[in-house]
Amino acid sequence: MSESGRAASRTAVLVCQGRAAANGRVATERFADPVATELLRVAERTAVDEVRANTPPKGWRERTAYESVRACADVVVPRTVAIDEALRARMTGQFVVLGAGLDTRAWRLPGLAQTDVWEVDHPASQQDKRARLADAAPALRAPDAGSRLAAELPAVARSVRFTPVDLAVDDLGAALDAAGHDPSSPTTWLWEGVVPYLTRDQVRTTVAALAARTAPGSTLVVNYQAPSAKAAAGRLLTRVLGSSITSGEPWRSLWKPERMAALLAEYGLRVVSDDDLLALAHTLGGPARVRASLRSSRVAVANRA
Ligand SMILES: C[S@@+](CC[C@H](N)C(=O)[O-])C[C@H]1O[C@@H](n2cnc3c(N)ncnc32)[C@H](O)[C@@H]1O
Repeated sequence: MSESGRAASRTAVLVCQGRAAANGRVATERFADPVATELLRVAERTAVDEVRANTPPKGWRERTAYESVRACADVVVPRTVAIDEALRARMTGQFVVLGAGLDTRAWRLPGLAQTDVWEVDHPASQQDKRARLADAAPALRAPDAGSRLAAELPAVARSVRFTPVDLAVDDLGAALDAAGHDPSSPTTWLWEGVVPYLTRDQVRTTVAALAARTAPGSTLVVNYQAPSAKAAAGRLLTRVLGSSITSGEPWRSLWKPERMAALLAEYGLRVVSDDDLLALAHTLGGPARVRASLRSSRVAVANRA
């Protein structure tokens, strides 16, 4: 629990487990996240290993954890592929990850050697991630200096600047200013798996703050959830069946694509693509067991108009 009284995000752990479970097993031509497992605690790896081995456990609680990780993997593989491919085509010298959770891109995405990364997240989640990165730091062996510990897992990006921000109450622009982000240079923004946890007003405030720091040549990649009766029913069922993983992090806003496009346009951002994940999941050859979730989860790409 952080000083603000809020615990680190459990859903951030779940999506990290999903990526760890899929790494090297699913859509290997286009998906890889070897760093995800490094960020998991030992107990969090049990369900991951069971999904990888396709061996569902017996107990109710264990089985619920297993099914959550398996379903999550089905969604995060196409989501990661869609986002990684969009980012690769549009990376700039500044990359801001909003609600970063246990995102691994600064530690694994090729082509970031000339890019500074700002990881923005709720203070409690960020504190938890930094502890995990410290625990994942390898013993670096220098031939003449014996071994020494790196403070944190080394990034592939030029730099990583941890920027604690509660998007519900804090001033994102001021925090990025203080952390050295340059609003006059192009920025690649990523906002993945966060929009549903914010109210409509908080989403609007965040869009306004990032748009004010979006120079020509910048891109926003945003993943959000569209309304879906089937996906909502599935989520309710999971809760009733006893998965407490997501219960502390309720969804607060869903967006129809036209409403998201209209909001971004108000702040000078033009949507150039906006696709659900279902079609992509089919092309990746994954099981697509969670059709409703794949259909309602969307990735939009927007440029400064
Ligand atoms: C489902 S996780 C997604 C993490 C990461 N983007 C990913 O896709 O792996 C949701 C993230 O949103 C963050 N989040 C939720 N509400 C937030 C808020 N009010 N301010 C900042 N971050 C928030 C959580 O801390 C968590 O890291």
